[in-house]
Amino acid sequence: MGFKRDFAWGVASASYQNEGSRHADGKGLSVWDVFTHEEGRVADGYTGDTACSQYCLLERDLDILERLAVNSYRFSVSWPRVLPSGTGRVNQAGLDYYDRMVDKLLERNITPFITLFHWDLPYELYLKGGWLNRDMPEYFAEYTAAVVNRLSDRVTHWITQNEPQCYIGSALENGEHAPGLKLGKKDLFLAAHHSLLSHGRAVQAIRAGAKKTPQIGYAPASWWLWSPETERAEDIEACRARTFGTEDNPIGGTAWWLDPVCLGRYPEDGWKKYEAYMPSVGSGDMKLISEPVDFLGMNIYQTYVGRAGEQGGCITVEREQGAPRTMAGWPVTPQAMYWGPKFYWERYGKKLYITENGVSGQDWISLDGKVHDPQRIDFTHRYLRQLRRAAEEGVDLEGYFHWTLMDNFEWSTGYQNRFGLVYVDFASQRRILKDSAYWYRKVIETNGENL
Ligand code: GCO
Repeated sequence: MGFKRDFAWGVASASYQNEGSRHADGKGLSVWDVFTHEEGRVADGYTGDTACSQYCLLERDLDILERLAVNSYRFSVSWPRVLPSGTGRVNQAGLDYYDRMVDKLLERNITPFITLFHWDLPYELYLKGGWLNRDMPEYFAEYTAAVVNRLSDRVTHWITQNEPQCYIGSALENGEHAPGLKLGKKDLFLAAHHSLLSHGRAVQAIRAGAKKTPQIGYAPASWWLWSPETERAEDIEACRARTFGTEDNPIGGTAWWLDPVCLGRYPEDGWKKYEAYMPSVGSGDMKLISEPVDFLGMNIYQTYVGRAGEQGGCITVEREQGAPRTMAGWPVTPQAMYWGPKFYWERYGKKLYITENGVSGQDWISLDGKVHDPQRIDFTHRYLRQLRRAAEEGVDLEGYFHWTLMDNFEWSTGYQNRFGLVYVDFASQRRILKDSAYWYRKVIETNGENL
């Protein structure tokens, strides 16, 4: 049975991680443009000023997409490239870049999937309070409308936000991501609420302005996931409960972000536990936040493993010594790609795209001039087999986007973690398809039959 006949096979990327051209053609600064220039924020002091220079090398990179035989490409739009101050004047030259990209993708029969926000918040909005500012939903709706107005005669697939757990949690709680703040719980939950309201306003703006019927999605991180050690019912139930529980750390979790969007309410356990820090919720807030989306994006890399505790609850099972890990130190846990979609499908009933999955490796150019990455092939093979199991058991899976097209700027770790199917020699900006790129092309050409 396998994957659907019209399954979307793609690769994903993000504006700040790939484009470079920090000032080109009237672009404004984002919080990442500033953060990466602050001492000690990024490994080796690297920045995304150049990254993979995709802004300048677009034609070449689109040709590479064609060589991969992908039928879809997920990329994000840089808000400050479109609205340099985050609001007000639209920078047409910034929109021109995405306009060209959309046309060239469609010429190659590649469907664009646009992520409206992948962390590069306009710096001038940060100076106005960023996500703490109650006006953010209107700013985000204004930006969304500008992009939709220009591109929605050709673009039909939209993702409002990528991983709020990162741009609120990692950025405002532990300070590892831009703008690098360590806010208290009250401010964190307020920022999270504004982020959710912003998502709702973007859904409204897309539905109101789209020139072609849109498919709208939302892509939180799927790292707060427990997969059962065995398939005993009690282990499965314990892991499901932990996956959607919020008593640990709501902001980093799953349900804090998806229950409001899909179920119209915050998770009760987290709300009760952190009641003292909760923002005031306006009468129309939850209705706005839960403006219907058409699909959920899942960024899946790993899972914890759990079992039912003697006294109830879910015990996290420690991994055996020397268990496989990626270059980034993440556990290799293919079962994440079965249990994650299964659990999300059962709880939310929304069709799913795997909007990110991939592995960082110690890739380099071998003596034969090629880049051999057998681990990436084996990793992806194992994860896709698990995804196929979920699909064959009835989970509505619409597509898979490998993270990522080419080695790029990996946030606070700089350029150490190479996630690309395509190797980038950053000194020369030369691209070399890794062995995994050729393997992935076969997966696409056979719609997964070769797995
Ligand atoms: C994320 C982001 C990507 C990362 C990728 C590898 O999920 O953290 O969406 O921008 O680069 O996941 O960490």
